[in-house]
Amino acid sequence: MTPEIDAVRALEVLDSRGDPTVRVTVESAGRFTVPAGASTGSHEASERRDGGDRYGGRGVREAVAAVEGEIAGAVVGRAVDDQAGLDAALRDLDGTDDLRRLGANAVLGVSGAALRTAARVAGRPLYAHVARLAGDDESVNVNDLARTDISVPMPMINVVSGGLHAGGGVPIQDVLVVPVGAPDYPTALEWAWEVRRAVRERIVADGHRPLVADEGGFSPPSVERPADAFELVRDGIAGAGFDPGAGGDLALAVDVAATHFHDPERGAYDLGDGDPLAPEAMVERALEWVERYPIVSVEDPLAESDWAAWARFRERAPDDLQVLGDDLLVTDPERLDRALDRGAANAVLVKPNQAGTVTRALAVCRRALAAGCNPVVSARSGETCDATIADLAVGTGAGQIKVGSLARSERLAKYNRLLAIDDATDAPLARFEAPPGPGSR
Ligand code: PGA
Ligand code: ZN
Repeated sequence: MTPEIDAVRALEVLDSRGDPTVRVTVESAGRFTVPAGASTGSHEASERRDGGDRYGGRGVREAVAAVEGEIAGAVVGRAVDDQAGLDAALRDLDGTDDLRRLGANAVLGVSGAALRTAARVAGRPLYAHVARLAGDDESVNVNDLARTDISVPMPMINVVSGGLHAGGGVPIQDVLVVPVGAPDYPTALEWAWEVRRAVRERIVADGHRPLVADEGGFSPPSVERPADAFELVRDGIAGAGFDPGAGGDLALAVDVAATHFHDPERGAYDLGDGDPLAPEAMVERALEWVERYPIVSVEDPLAESDWAAWARFRERAPDDLQVLGDDLLVTDPERLDRALDRGAANAVLVKPNQAGTVTRALAVCRRALAAGCNPVVSARSGETCDATIADLAVGTGAGQIKVGSLARSERLAKYNRLLAIDDATDAPLARFEAPPGPGSR
């Protein structure tokens, strides 16, 4: 007999920023804690907050009550291994496109806890269970997966933070390293650690304190302009004795998060270093960064609404540049299709709480891979030590993961889970490669 979902419990706990979030436990086995963004896209699934005075309005007691009341009433007794059916039922029960009625944090909490319960009940590692769901293929032999078919995702590791994650400073959000030349996952982490140490030493030598931002990256006052951030990290790579660049040891990546310094009324981008830029000038500026620094991946170089400028950027960017959509695509299969049609992006950030259910996040990975577009599984800036997305990245074969810096336990929980998977499976490290994808020249 197929095991069923039994009691569903929820609890308001606090995330890495000290903000309330929803933790759901399916009593028999699975627990999942929902993350939260700060630089959110306006088309994301909608989390539910209580308002009022508690936690500055950010309490989640209503979402918790929705899980234990209406949602539990609808899902208790469902087969535990029918993830797609459960997620469709949750969506129907909510009845809105963006899950605002029950709250995407309530819905994803249950979806994620059910995923973990199903893996536990089946006696499979979570990544193997995800691989089976992601492939949507009963014939996938999960026992073989452990040796042959999986890879450990290439990490994209934050070193310098700005924007909404650092309370100001440089307006671009993350400058990251991608250990493109590392032979395996543990070595990739070691190399990134060396670079991070070199950057830290430089910050201290410049007379600043190496304090960290929401995702564990540094945000020293010496970094005033985007170029300062790129130079600091590039020099950190070289200073640690590595070769910076796409064909070298570690390359740079950037999350511009341009939606958050874009004024939609004037259509202008304010980088804080001169007059605000029109979309065409912002395209030029981002292209200049790519030309000048060893950057292999650019996320959100333009705002979530600026489709035409995205397409122009992609047209003019080098063919082998990864152009990654976060706020633009919000883990939404339809927005991904639109981006592929228009040639706006060749990679998609995958954040389960933007999607609202596990099934929808898996669908985005599957659709991206089928279209020759890179999925990059990502954490949020507000996280807990829940490491589910590490297994999600392995199980979907996404090939890349972005979970912040090598600091703060909510970040390390994911890196450490991947170390354990690497150890258990001997899976190779996925190679970094920008896909040609539709629309490329
Ligand atoms: P967020 O940022 O979790 O604050 O939205 C992460 C990102 O932009 O990639
Ligand atoms: Zn982003």
